[in-house]
Amino acid sequence: MSQTNRRIVLALRPEGPPKPANFRLEEAPMPEVPNDHVLLEAIYLSLDPYMRGRMSDAKSYADPIAIGDVMVGATVSRIKQSRNRDWKEGDIVVAYSGWQTHAISDGSDLRRIDPHAAPISTGLGVLGMTGFSAYAGLRNIGRPKPGETVVVAAASGAVGSVVGQLARIDGARAIGIAGGAEKCAFVKNELGFDAAIDHRDPNFARQLAEACPDGIDVYFENVGGAVWDGVMPLLNNFARVPLCGMISHYNDEALGPPSSDRLPSSMKVIQQKSITVRGFMNVEFIEQQPTFLDEAAGWIADGRLKYREDIVDGLEHAPTAFIGLLEGRNFGKLIVRV
Ligand SMILES: NC(=O)c1ccc[n+]([C@@H]2O[C@H](COP(=O)([O-])OP(=O)(O)OC[C@H]3O[C@@H](n4cnc5c(N)ncnc54)[C@H](OP(=O)(O)O)[C@@H]3O)[C@@H](O)[C@H]2O)c1
Repeated sequence: MSQTNRRIVLALRPEGPPKPANFRLEEAPMPEVPNDHVLLEAIYLSLDPYMRGRMSDAKSYADPIAIGDVMVGATVSRIKQSRNRDWKEGDIVVAYSGWQTHAISDGSDLRRIDPHAAPISTGLGVLGMTGFSAYAGLRNIGRPKPGETVVVAAASGAVGSVVGQLARIDGARAIGIAGGAEKCAFVKNELGFDAAIDHRDPNFARQLAEACPDGIDVYFENVGGAVWDGVMPLLNNFARVPLCGMISHYNDEALGPPSSDRLPSSMKVIQQKSITVRGFMNVEFIEQQPTFLDEAAGWIADGRLKYREDIVDGLEHAPTAFIGLLEGRNFGKLIVRV
């Protein structure tokens, strides 16, 4: 048994895009296991865009990570030692144990996963928080009807890939937006979207308009910025916009110059077209998670829900992989094999 806990801590708050110097790899003594607690050994670590917000000390829905604290994040872990009667050694769980090899839990924050049902890494992606976020936003807010057009950006990624496939399951047309030809080919040919448009192409806005001849009924917002500029003129009356995230702004230091302020033009379209924009956090729909997990397992089994994971080897590579996530370098759900 390894005698040390390897962990990555926040060394310095980033200004703009994070850099390797914002993180520090440390070794710490293996934690003792108190009564009623378990020792977790991480197998997979999830890397997610929200972590960028937690690195800043700006006011947000969750407290910032303190300098010197372990980076937060979900893992798929094995219970290495148990002093809690509800958990036994060898159980595989989803835990919120952060960027480290080992952690202590009292068990209250663990979700057991069945290692025989699906590859355990899916507990962080398609059968985890990101898959559920897609389901929660689309089913509760987007509510596409058969024949309607659903557009989603970051379409090859963890959330977007599920949004489009779910839209197809619900009988809608799914148009994906992704960065580059390879991701677009995957979205259309492998995931079965009706079309995929490259947001880096200089003719992005025209191509999106051509792919949406009847306008857009549901836009599942993951990125904001220039993609929103292309989507906004195509939104139909009474369109619904589940606002899931805005990754293109996560490295912004401050609001841009007035010319980049999209608020007035966005508000005008929202008002004149009676559009519903509804922000959400997946946890507000958490009571729907068991239903989602059942349904999603069925869709995976019958081939209607496909997923792609981008697995990086070694905890020490988590910072570089995370920096790449904010630049679109990941291709699929980004996971570190710890
Ligand atoms: N509300 C919630 O509860 C909740 C839960 C989970 C995730 N989210 C949000 O959902 C969004 C997607 O997250 P994810 O986990 O599925 O990540 P992901 O799609 O697996 O990875 C991020 C992708 O975002 C795209 N991207 C990065 N920078 C961009 C930019 N400047 N402009 C356009 N696209 C950019 C890149 O794809 P391309 O190369 O294709 O551009 C990148 O691969 C994020 O905004 C995240 O914060 C929200």
